[in-house]
This record gives sequence, structure tokens and C-alpha cells, in this order.
Amino acid sequence: MQVIHFRRPPGHPKGRPVEAWARERVLALLGGAPLRRDLLVEHLHRIQDAEGHLSAPMLAALAAEMRLSQAEVYETATFYHHFDVVKEGEAAPPALTVRVCESLSCAMAGAGALAERLEGSLGPRVRVQRVPCIGRCDQAPAVVVHQCPVAPATEQAVVGAVASGVRDCPLPEGARPAEATGAVAGEDDWARVRALAAGRLGAAQVFDELDAAGLRGLGGAGFPTGRKWRIVAGRPGPRMLVVNADEGEPGTFKDRWLLEREPRRFLEGMLVAALAVGCEACYVYLRDEYAGVRAALEREISALLAAPPVPLPAIHLRRGAGAYICGEESALIESIEGKRGVPRLRPPYVAEVGLFGRPTLVNNVETLVWVSHILERGAVWFASQGRRGRKGVRAFSVSGRVRQPGVGIAPAGITLRELVDEHCGGMAPGHELYAYLPGGASGGILPAALADLPLDFDTLQPHGSFIGSAAVVVLSTQDRARDAALNLMRFFRDESCGQCTPCRAGTAKAAELIGRPNWDRVLLAQLSAAMADASICGLGQAAPNPVLSVIRHFPQELADPRPAA
Ligand SMILES: Cc1cc2nc3c(=O)[nH]c(=O)nc-3n(C[C@H](O)[C@H](O)[C@H](O)COP(=O)(O)O)c2cc1C
Ligand code: SF4
Repeated sequence: MQVIHFRRPPGHPKGRPVEAWARERVLALLGGAPLRRDLLVEHLHRIQDAEGHLSAPMLAALAAEMRLSQAEVYETATFYHHFDVVKEGEAAPPALTVRVCESLSCAMAGAGALAERLEGSLGPRVRVQRVPCIGRCDQAPAVVVHQCPVAPATEQAVVGAVASGVRDCPLPEGARPAEATGAVAGEDDWARVRALAAGRLGAAQVFDELDAAGLRGLGGAGFPTGRKWRIVAGRPGPRMLVVNADEGEPGTFKDRWLLEREPRRFLEGMLVAALAVGCEACYVYLRDEYAGVRAALEREISALLAAPPVPLPAIHLRRGAGAYICGEESALIESIEGKRGVPRLRPPYVAEVGLFGRPTLVNNVETLVWVSHILERGAVWFASQGRRGRKGVRAFSVSGRVRQPGVGIAPAGITLRELVDEHCGGMAPGHELYAYLPGGASGGILPAALADLPLDFDTLQPHGSFIGSAAVVVLSTQDRARDAALNLMRFFRDESCGQCTPCRAGTAKAAELIGRPNWDRVLLAQLSAAMADASICGLGQAAPNPVLSVIRHFPQELADPRPAA
């Protein structure tokens, strides 16, 4: 009888043996950096940057050095799009990757055809990947060569960038240190921080001022900022501050725009939050596609730490790795902790149990920029700017069929028609308004007949829509809402973390159903209800919105024999 041994012999660790060369290489690349679990994604970046991929021996060596199981390292590495995990026997990817954005605004600007041409002209030594939104919808079609944006991209410009061996990422033309939201030039950058540290400004005063301004979170959910700060401040310390700079929502690029132009304004808002709420550390989670912003922020943070205006909390700049779901605050926290970016079940909310199990304040970049402005100019200044009874001002990202796509600093309650006319120079030549997305991929699609609604929180819900992060994508009579819905549903399908079935299977099923010429309204409505009701996080809950919008507002498109664009 054959005896099968289920136990490993003593002294044999689990998984593949660590090879000496790989261990040496890993140690050299980590350069003495701490081996804490929460740095796993950072360490994977170091190896990926140096080697161009993550091989099995390197992952095994990293796991051994970090005292993690190989499974933990592998599952984390394979979760993120920007890590190329190469299995044993597989060929490593080409040294250079060209990423072509195929999200909505870029698709409308011809990204699909551009990707096809690039696949032909760049040859086998360059990998062309079709990727989700890279945060440059205003310069569509957008491409990233290695880590450098080429936008708007033409075949010639991308081929030229590849040939020139471009690697570093200067900030794009037009970005400059001058403030874009109209601050007083020459004023002390850290005035509010000094006032808080010296006790001239109290935390309660700050919370009251934010309440009076009516500031709500601008990352998408719109939670009142003052109220959130009070909740976290009321929890026992130590507390953490997490800045959400992941900006992955298709159509959104305002956080990049603000960080390029107002890095100090942002840092001041962040420090005000940390001091007022009593956070002992700040973690800024920046999407990986913003390499130029990362370099600029690293410089700003170094300068701040070299000459701190007051005793500062620890500041950590963390790099995302290409996963939209990491914009969801609990997934983002998992990622900072060095794990897969999988949303947590709530309760407990992150304000109670967040980063490293501590009460955590999570705020979006733009929210913190306005915090600094509000404390400088007063709640009345901010609140008085809205139109149609709404309060405040915000950064709208506008892309699609407008003459001048870009960020518009505009009052809450402005209408789509006003936004396009006053901030975008009108519609693009030859295009007539047909529809618009007021809140990126998740916020639904509205018809031109509803272009006079005030754009703000709580104004669009009766129409099956919401403003979210104010990512406005404009469609013309040359587009179809059903094509937009298909593009968005494919995005959700590809970006679902896969944790829950209604979202994982629902997005795939919905993408398949709406790719057909005739939509099955009843089936789509049932599927959408299941996704909205039973998904764990906002991705799966909001994913059906574009489909439901087409059914509700564009019935003329439900049967259309023309192939999907
Ligand atoms: C799928 C999903 C993606 C999200 N992406 C982002 C994002 O990229 N940036 C962001 O600030 N908030 C994003 N959010 C919202 C965050 O979870 C969170 O509400 C926000 O960062 C809180 O900051 P605020 O109160 O300043 O808006 C996302 C939410 C979901 C459900
Ligand atoms: S809804 Fe989707 S993205 Fe959110 S946890 Fe479930 S599977 Fe993951």
C-alpha cells in the first residue's frame, strides 16, 4: 500500500524554496526599508519598477523577508492591475508598456482605433494595454507611455514618445504653482495650521465653520465634512487621517488638477484636519497614474518636513497600483495596510475602526482644499456662492463633446447648460447636446431635456441620478446613451473586486445583456435591483445606474440593430 504524507518534513517552509539570488536582489532593491506588512504594496512597486515584472522567485524571497506567507504576497500582487506577476514558465512582459485609456471620454475621442493602430505600429517589443480611466479625460484620447502621459494622444505622438525612451514625468504644460481657485497670493501658506497649533483657533471653531459653510465631501458620497470631523474627534485616540487621492471614477480629474496647481493649499487643509481632529499620522493614497503629481508632492512634503511651521504629525505618501475599487474608503485602507483592496463590511465604520484598527478620518483631496479656503475667507464667502438656493462652490471635471474640456470652478446649483456655456466655451463644433453624465460612471445618464437642473447633492435623485464627484461627461446627438452604458458596465465588470456575487456576476451579466441589439427591460430591471440591494459596496450598488437611465430616459434606444460602438 502506498503511504501518502500530508505533512511537510520538519524544517521545510511552505511554498517554493527561496533562491539565494532572488533574496539578494530583493534586499538590494528594498535598500534597508522597513519590512512591515503595511509596506507590501510599496515594496512590490520597487520590484516591479526595477524588474518590469514580479517573478515567482522574487515574490517568494519578498515573502520570506517580510515574514509573510507566499499566498498573502501573491494574492496582493495579483489583485492590482499595475503589477505584472509572471508565473513559472511564463514569459516576462515587454520592458515598455503603453496604456491606452478606453473609458468613456477617451472612447468617444477614438481611443479604440488609436489602440489598434498602436498595436500595429509599435511592434512586439512594446506592450499596448487598454486600460480604464487614467484621469485625463479633458485631454482625450489619453495614453501613458511607461509612466508619462501623452494627451491628447495621436499615433505619431505616442510612437515619438516611445522612440525617445521617455521615462520621467514632468508636470504637463499649463500646470504651475499659482493657485487656481483664486487664493490671495503671497499669504502665509500655513497660517491656519499655526493658528490651530497656537490655540488661536480651536477645533470646535473649525467644525462650526465647516458646518456653517455647508461643506460636504467631494469624493462622491457628500457626507457633511464638519459632522464627520466631530464624529472622528469624539472617538478615543490614537486617530488616523487618510487622504483619498485615488481618483479613479471615469470622467474625474479635478483632484489631479488641484494637486498640480495648489499642492500647498491641499497640504494645509490636510494638516488642519489632522490637528483639529487630533490625528497622529496622515496617509495620502495617490493613484499610481499620477506620477508627475507624486514627484511634486514628494518635493512639497520634504520641504514642509525640512522647515515645519509647527510640530507635525507623520506624513506618508502611498502609491495606488491601478485598482478603481481602492477609491472606496475601506478598500483604500486595506490597500494602505498592504493587502488586496477589498471593501470591508460595515459596521463598524472607518470612523470607528479604520486604518490599523484606529478611528480614521477619510477625506477627498478637493474637500481639504476647500477647508483651507473656508478657514481663510470664511464660511459666508463659501456658502454664498451657490445658485438656485444651493450652497458653495466646487471643481467640476467636464469632458466629452464640449469645445474646451477641463476643470470648471463653479457654484453648486449651476446647470449643465450654464456649465457648458460659461466654463467650456459651448458645445464642440458640429455637436448638439443629447445627454450628459452628471457624476461619472456611477451617477447615471440624463437627457438634454434635463440640462437645466441644478447640479448639486440631493437634486438629481428624483431623476435616478446623482452628482457624486461632479465628473460631467457630455454626449452629443452623434453618440448613443446605450453605448455609454455599455462602456461603463464593462468598466464596472473589470473593476469589481469580486468579493460579492451580485456585483461580480451581475456586472458581467449586465454587460452581456446590454451588448445585445434588443434590451430585455424586465430582466435588466430585476438584475439591477439585485445588484443595488445586495452588493456590499457602492460599486455594485451604483453600477446599474447607467442601464436604468437608458431604460428610463432613452426608450428610443432600447432596440437598435446597429452594433455597439
Ligand atoms: C467604488 C467607489 C469608488 C470611490 N472612489 C473615490 C475616489 O476615487 N476618490 C474619493 O475621494 N472618494 C471615492 N469614493 C468615496 C470614498 O469612499 C469616501 O466617501 C470619500 O473618500 C470620503 O471623503 P469626502 O468625505 O471628503 O468625500 C469612492 C466610493 C466608492 C463606493
Ligand atoms: S460590490 Fe463589487 S466591488 Fe464592492 S465589495 Fe462587492 S464585489 Fe467588491
